[in-house]
Amino acid sequence: MQRCFGEKSYSIPALILLILILSVGTAFAGHARPEKKGILLVAFGSSVDSAQISFKEIDKKVKAEFPGVPVHWAFTSSIIRHKLAKTENRNIDSPSIALSKMMDEGFTDVAVQSLHTIPGEEYEGLLKTAEAFEGMPKGMKKITVGRPLLYNDGDVKKAVDALIASFPKGIRAQDSIVLMGHGTPSPANIYYPAIQYYLNLKGSNMFVGTVEGFPSLENVMDKLPSPKKGKVYLLPFMSVAGDHAHNDMAGNEDDSWKSILTKAGYDCVPVMKGTAEYPAVAELWIMHLKDAFNALSHK
Ligand code: CO
Repeated sequence: MQRCFGEKSYSIPALILLILILSVGTAFAGHARPEKKGILLVAFGSSVDSAQISFKEIDKKVKAEFPGVPVHWAFTSSIIRHKLAKTENRNIDSPSIALSKMMDEGFTDVAVQSLHTIPGEEYEGLLKTAEAFEGMPKGMKKITVGRPLLYNDGDVKKAVDALIASFPKGIRAQDSIVLMGHGTPSPANIYYPAIQYYLNLKGSNMFVGTVEGFPSLENVMDKLPSPKKGKVYLLPFMSVAGDHAHNDMAGNEDDSWKSILTKAGYDCVPVMKGTAEYPAVAELWIMHLKDAFNALSHK
């Protein structure tokens, strides 16, 4: 006799197993742990001291927005965590260590907020870690992950508005703004050209380039006004003004953006502030955290 695909038959041992699984589930539910909600903020991390101000700003805002909810931190970059541990004796948790500790402290529901800019490799890894912790025996009941700064089309539009509102005062029509994004070989690099498109809708003197992706500094230089007029403001398009901002953007080495642009005849003004230091941008991450926190209550 031939069986159709999709037709299911349950053997007796499978049924017994199913009943066992169901009854174990009920047994756990009977000893349900009291609900304890928490927040885990996750950044790539930075070993640059002055960059910590960005994290402090976000931490302050989150605590003000969610009074009484414990806030924990983790860095996704193991290089930075190990460097901090070695040079400054500062031990910052990875997302999995932070979640293990929270699990041990009795947290049942955790909203994890990605403080990354794009949903690239760091965010993808964070999602997988969060999924692995959800539903662990005697562990977390629910874990939600708040989207990074840029995720959907509305996020990109809002980020551009928030950035423009945060640009230094006193920029004149003949000046240019160049944002330095990180860039990635992952498909999420598409957010940088998307940002450029929305910047173009708002004006012709704002550009985004990346250290490791597209557009490059050369792509930006092709669009900068020639003959050279006005100033070129250089701003990190990263949550913190960390290593890339200090070295690749504003460093004195020949290959920094400042050096290359200065050599090409531009008058550069580096602005050493991470995007998390701008209240209008920080607000967007907080909104994403609110979405993730509210989602904890939806079964
Ligand atoms: Co990097």
